[in-house]
Amino acid sequence: MSPTPSKPDSNKDSPHHVSPAQSADLQQHAIAVAQHAYAPYSHFRVGAAVLLTDGTIVTGCNVENASYRLTVCAEQAAIAAAVSLRGPGIRIRAIAVANLNDTASQPCGACRQTIQEFSTPDTIIFFPGEKGAIAQTTIADLLPAAFRLTTEN
Ligand code: THU
Repeated sequence: MSPTPSKPDSNKDSPHHVSPAQSADLQQHAIAVAQHAYAPYSHFRVGAAVLLTDGTIVTGCNVENASYRLTVCAEQAAIAAAVSLRGPGIRIRAIAVANLNDTASQPCGACRQTIQEFSTPDTIIFFPGEKGAIAQTTIADLLPAAFRLTTEN
């Protein structure tokens, strides 16, 4: 029988534990980088801050384009920056997403798949919930049926 999974931040010794101070810090980073968003089309300014398992925080914002579908989401920008900084072995302990529009918003489908690529099942996602609350979930809950590439050769 497999062990019962614990709540993502319930075990302080877990590498996935995120303290209230760490989550507040991550949130502040996400809000700060959202000020850099390039969003002249949607005016929806998003920031993302990734906490890696080595303790590094890396940030990114959305970067839109006149050819709308070329837009890069904040989460994707942050993760690309994290890989560029620390290499292909990174793992995400937590990611905070914020916007400057006071709007409840969860990561889009493409961002869920991007987060999944560098996550563990316990990776925590903080996102803007209803009425200004900060909501929290895991990547396993956000994307239970992620695409995984398996090749036979
Ligand atoms: N956006 C993000 O940056 N992250 C998401 O998870 C959802 C959407 C951006 C893309 C676009 O610049 C704007 O928000 C409106 O969709």
